[in-house]
Amino acid sequence: MKTIYTYSAEETLALGEKLARNLIDKHVVVLLEGDLASGKTTLTKGIAKGLGIEKTVNSPTFTILKVYPINNGQKLYHLDLYRLSEVGSDFDLEDYIDSDDIVVIEWPFQVNELLPNEYLLIKIEKLDDNTRVFHFDSHLLDEEVLDNL
Ligand SMILES: Nc1ncnc2c1ncn2[C@@H]1O[C@H](COP(=O)(O)OP(=O)(O)OP(=O)(O)O)[C@@H](O)[C@H]1O
Ligand SMILES: [Mg+2]
Repeated sequence: MKTIYTYSAEETLALGEKLARNLIDKHVVVLLEGDLASGKTTLTKGIAKGLGIEKTVNSPTFTILKVYPINNGQKLYHLDLYRLSEVGSDFDLEDYIDSDDIVVIEWPFQVNELLPNEYLLIKIEKLDDNTRVFHFDSHLLDEEVLDNL
């Protein structure tokens, strides 16, 4: 368990970039838990930047899933399951969870029963307008994922 504070959206982007350096070439499922506007998408934008993705990452709320190719041949899957019950899904979450890719899921507990045994859970708390606390709760065998954050 690791706890990190950020005091601006820019600091959260930088945290995502650092985390991405530990994710590259690994298959990791990252679950982001936190209220509306806590910073889940902002952290994901940082992760994408750290993976060398140049395309703009937006919240995929109405599309549920976006896929971004990474230069090393992996993909970043960004899912936002907030509206899953309204929109429905035409994809198999298991396919991503069992892939060799990097998967980031906002509002993951909509699909509790489909979540993998190994994952990195990040709980985000909003303390005030600009302050966020990131609680890293690793359920990964590979603990290096939290190094140097
Ligand atoms: N320290 C911070 N870290 C992240 N975002 C911050 C911070 N301080 C202020 N913000 C602002 O909070 C908002 C976070 O929005 P973001 O879309 O990342 O949240 P979210 O958790 O993805 O929300 P949603 O549940 O609607 O998808 C942004 O407007 C951002 O500028
Ligand atoms: Mg979001």
